[in-house]
Amino acid sequence: MTRILVTGGAGGLGSELVPLLQSAGHDVRIGSSRPEPEDLAAGLEWAQGDLLTGDGLAESVAGIETIVHCASSPFKKTQEADVAGTKRLLKAAKAAGAGHFYYISIVGVDRMTLPYYRAKYAAEQAIEASGVPYTILRATQFHSLLDAFMRTLFRRGPFLFVPGAARFQLIDTSEVARHMAETVETGPSGRLPDIGGPEVLTAAEIAKPWLKVSGVRAVRVPVPALGPLGQFAKGLNICPENKSGRITWAQWLEKTYGRSS
Ligand SMILES: NC(=O)c1ccc[n+]([C@@H]2O[C@H](COP(=O)([O-])OP(=O)(O)OC[C@H]3O[C@@H](n4cnc5c(N)ncnc54)[C@H](OP(=O)(O)O)[C@@H]3O)[C@@H](O)[C@H]2O)c1
Repeated sequence: MTRILVTGGAGGLGSELVPLLQSAGHDVRIGSSRPEPEDLAAGLEWAQGDLLTGDGLAESVAGIETIVHCASSPFKKTQEADVAGTKRLLKAAKAAGAGHFYYISIVGVDRMTLPYYRAKYAAEQAIEASGVPYTILRATQFHSLLDAFMRTLFRRGPFLFVPGAARFQLIDTSEVARHMAETVETGPSGRLPDIGGPEVLTAAEIAKPWLKVSGVRAVRVPVPALGPLGQFAKGLNICPENKSGRITWAQWLEKTYGRSS
């Protein structure tokens, strides 16, 4: 039994990981920037701590042996939350004598120039230099990310702009969480082999079945994968040699929308 803090433990990935760690017999504390909810599940602890300011981080790591760092802020104040915030968390971890810092990163962060990916890579480098024993796992994009992108970033009114040549190896958050729950048991392991989903699909192949089942009515407009999106067309974000996930995009769509694509 280990006392584990999961930062971002109420987020998409974190909320799948927390019950796995609990059922493996660990004492789990959820780290969040928000106050404790009234309906917190039995047996869980909650710690409010903000990566942006450092407020509450010392209390969040007090008595903790392992920190699984899932918290991240891709769309606002990324540099401050993901790079400076990770350094703040490492400092608190070191002061508290934590023996394992486990970080979830993204495949290709060392090759890609998108600001968010650069921030994740800088966070990795801060972890490696910190002196705190660590594990870093890089995963490919989650199914839920592309689902969200097609609802927001790729849509303008009645059009769905599809950078057709961009490629993705989507993986299910449950499979990433399971892999993390298994590998955290080994203790600090440095950089683990990357994990990715079972298939490499183009954005065009992802968009077509999504439009069929998502309930969104939009006309697909193919656009070139320009600028940083060109790096997705080159496949800098995938690890086809490591297809660890089993859940395909079609299966995820069926599970999520209850309709076969
Ligand atoms: N999505 C993908 O495709 C993908 C692929 C590979 C790796 N990853 C990595 O996996 C991790 C989890 O991703 P996810 O999709 O599950 O993200 P998510 O649902 O957005 O969860 C991240 C959590 O971070 C917390 N957070 C944000 N700002 C914070 C702050 N200032 N202080 C403390 N906590 C803060 C938020 O929790 P509260 O609101 O409770 O504070 C949020 O729920 C991230 O590190 C991401 O880079 C994601």
